[in-house]
Amino acid sequence: MKNVLLKNGVSIPAIGFGTWTLQGERGYRAFRQAIECGFRHFDTAESYDTEIELGRAIRDSGVAREEFFITSKLPGEFKAYEIAKATLEQSLERLGMDYLDLYIIHAPWPWEEQDSPDWADGNLAAWRAMSEGYKAQKVRAIGLSNFSYADIERIWDRCEIKPMLNQIRLHIGHVAASTVRYCKEHGIAVSAWSPLGGAPLRGKVALPEWVTVKTYAKKYGVTPQQLCLRFAMQYGDIVIGRTGNEKHMLANLAIENFTISDADMLALSQIDPYWQGGEKSLFA
Ligand SMILES: NC(=O)c1ccc[n+]([C@@H]2O[C@H](COP(=O)([O-])OP(=O)(O)OC[C@H]3O[C@@H](n4cnc5c(N)ncnc54)[C@H](OP(=O)(O)O)[C@@H]3O)[C@@H](O)[C@H]2O)c1
Repeated sequence: MKNVLLKNGVSIPAIGFGTWTLQGERGYRAFRQAIECGFRHFDTAESYDTEIELGRAIRDSGVAREEFFITSKLPGEFKAYEIAKATLEQSLERLGMDYLDLYIIHAPWPWEEQDSPDWADGNLAAWRAMSEGYKAQKVRAIGLSNFSYADIERIWDRCEIKPMLNQIRLHIGHVAASTVRYCKEHGIAVSAWSPLGGAPLRGKVALPEWVTVKTYAKKYGVTPQQLCLRFAMQYGDIVIGRTGNEKHMLANLAIENFTISDADMLALSQIDPYWQGGEKSLFA
């Protein structure tokens, strides 16, 4: 599988498996199946309640721990040193692992307080704890999630260890061009969440059903979902999809087998109905 090198030389598989909502035995079965299908990169978080089953699935698979790339996340609410330090330990304990491959701040703000202007000091306090975990080899890489370029700029100069990855919402219809551009300029890998568009807004059509998406999928001889996943991986660096269906797992891994042309990436990146900010396409 294609891998992406983070700025510290750690290699991350470009296609990851999302665990959000896959809880309990349903999750355990899905993770075992995903491992059988060939997934080695799994995305969990304290708030997903999937760490215990993911750790169990990995141990039961018989595949060596070193073959996996496991990401977990510090909740957006935890903006202080001590709690960040303790939360990392708890994630390791739930997963039954002695190290994580990647630990990221789930959001620049507590989810309920997104309108507050600036959490830079809290993010830096959490970052200090994560950096210590990195130096102690409890995590192989550290990064961010849902940070806009402005959120990253507020902490960048004050971070001794620079963020290595930013996991953001990225899909056709939501390309976050300024943040992706900023990350690429600063050597921060971009990982795309909800590459299939997430739950459609009320009254809107789900992304894989869009006529343009279906038209381009037909052109490449793939399903609309494969086109969306491939777009997100090519526009960023890494894509995290989620499925509980074995057929879909195999289909999602098969996006390695085609490439969307630059011209089509440009056209697809300009379909941007969710975004009101007038951002320019990265490919323009
Ligand atoms: N950092 C963050 O704040 C954040 C936020 C949201 C998500 N995430 C991460 O990103 C992951 C992915 O995002 P997401 O959970 O919103 O899901 P997603 O991958 O965008 O979409 C999941 C949906 O697509 C369907 N699907 C997947 N592959 C398919 C295929 N090949 N054909 C047809 N349908 C397919 C799944 O149904 P089936 O099960 O039937 O296949 C499921 O209903 C999450 O699980 C989580 O790990 C991170």
